[in-house]
Amino acid sequence: MSETETQGPRHVAVIMDGNGRWAQSRGRPRLFGHHAGAKRVREIVNVCPKLGVKYLTIFAFSTENWKRTQTEVSGLMKLFRRYIQREAQDLLREGVRVRFIGDRVRLDERLVRMMDDLELLTSDNDAVHLTIALNYGGRDEVARATKRLAYDVEQGRLSYKDVTDETLAKYLDTSVLPDPDLVVRTSGEARISNFLLWQSAYAEYEFIDTLWPDFTEAEFAQVVGRYGARDRRFGAVKV
Ligand code: IPE
Ligand code: IPE
Ligand code: MG
Repeated sequence: MSETETQGPRHVAVIMDGNGRWAQSRGRPRLFGHHAGAKRVREIVNVCPKLGVKYLTIFAFSTENWKRTQTEVSGLMKLFRRYIQREAQDLLREGVRVRFIGDRVRLDERLVRMMDDLELLTSDNDAVHLTIALNYGGRDEVARATKRLAYDVEQGRLSYKDVTDETLAKYLDTSVLPDPDLVVRTSGEARISNFLLWQSAYAEYEFIDTLWPDFTEAEFAQVVGRYGARDRRFGAVKV
């Protein structure tokens, strides 16, 4: 095993930010930046096996992003449909298992069907586990999980006495995924914007100045490489 495989992050989560500014600096509409950003995803996914990254989770649309103009929101939804349509066969062939997290209720039916189909299509894959956060918000996820948990208590399937943090984690959208080891945000903003709040309790963070459409495979490899030098203590004292 190489060093990256033994010491590298197993799960990397990425807040793909800066598409709008990237387009604006070129005098183009924001959607132009989103299209450029979408093209970057493939390169990052494909390099994961080489870097020992088994799980990659990407933030594509937040529960707060509905506040944007109708043009941008509908353009993004169309982009997600096109992305699934265009990439499905390649993802299948590359051994990528795709999952979606976030609240599907507010998404249009056509898109939800495509998301379900892609999950099913790639469900036997195991090379890389790609999770796409779409209409995702950390607080929204915890609220939805709590609602389902409360319902199970009401139905007598669960006692309130048995509720621990592990119990709640089982109700989250990410129940089958390990917690992220490393969270990367591009575009220079040092905030998490409601991404994986629960799951990132002990994640390491990297805030990178590069705008997402300029973020390359090489830069991703550097970020992943730096992770190996970090000392994760999880509250304990190392002797
Ligand atoms: C991130 O890029 C993509 C989405 C939020 C959908 P932005 O659209 O936030 O780009 P900036 O931050 O305005 O540059
Ligand atoms: C976070 O980026 C959401 C995604 C990358 C999908 P935003 O651009 O929406 O976050 P804020 O508004 O700068 O906090
Ligand atoms: Mg942004």
